[in-house]
Amino acid sequence: MSAKIRYAVFPVAGKGTRFLPATKASPKEMLPVVDKPLIQYAVEEAIAAGATNLVFITGRNKRAIEDHFDVDPELELLLASKDKDELLDMVRNTVPPHVNCIYVRQGEPLGLGHAVLCARPVVGNQPFFVHLADDLIDAEESCLGQMARVFEAEGGSVLGVEEVPRTQTRQYGIIDAEPVAEGLRRLRGIVEKPKPEDAPSNLAVVGRYILTPRIFELLADTGAGAGGEIQLTDAIARLLAEEPVFGHEFNGLRFDCGSKLGYLEATVHYGLKHPELGPEFRQHLRDMAF
Ligand code: UTP
Repeated sequence: MSAKIRYAVFPVAGKGTRFLPATKASPKEMLPVVDKPLIQYAVEEAIAAGATNLVFITGRNKRAIEDHFDVDPELELLLASKDKDELLDMVRNTVPPHVNCIYVRQGEPLGLGHAVLCARPVVGNQPFFVHLADDLIDAEESCLGQMARVFEAEGGSVLGVEEVPRTQTRQYGIIDAEPVAEGLRRLRGIVEKPKPEDAPSNLAVVGRYILTPRIFELLADTGAGAGGEIQLTDAIARLLAEEPVFGHEFNGLRFDCGSKLGYLEATVHYGLKHPELGPEFRQHLRDMAF
């Protein structure tokens, strides 16, 4: 098995109910943070970490994602005729030429585990990234890039983890783990959405994974768990009985863009960082402060 990871799986078939009505007819992953959809940030992170095959697990009402990464000759002609070279470059390079986009349909949203399993015919016997676009992470070195270094050094599956307040354990997969190095732990167990009093720690799995292909066999054999969905967490719990699985506490700032508050926080953060808008936006926020 090569240590270089070339496949990135983006499960984007969820219903996004927390963002209704915005997500009734358009995907949550197309919500823009300032001027870029969440899925574009996701793809850029995976490519920066070495992925060259992007596998999108899509569902009903997700066509906009395919269109976003497709060529749009009419738009390109229009921008070229108006000498808008910078914009032209931007729309042409939503994915660079050496990167392949592959779309797999998840007929029914049976859960994140099931969505990942849908990638099996494409990914085959390779290790792969899983990236959940609604966890937006601003980091100097991309979160998946940091995790890929751990994978190359240690060889097992790697999960992106972060400390969360105990009161929030119900929203995450929570790990039970022992430290092996600074910011690195080896998992002893993992539970999906435990009550705070039952949580084995306050280390939560965020939307970044490197998984070995053994996970596909385990997922194929995993029934519905919490919330009646096929849970990736349940298959990882079985994987760690067979192979080492690590939790990497990434460096970076995460925004939970699946929640309205997290999404607004991300908008302010990226707005302030934006090269054109930043200074004016900062002044606007100062003027608004009361
Ligand atoms: P979430 O739990 O955030 O669900 O899924 P959701 O449908 O996106 O959003 P809410 O909670 O209803 O607002 C976590 C990730 O798993 C994907 C989602 O697209 C999201 O990226 N997913 C979930 C699938 O691709 N298929 C599924 O069956 C379930």
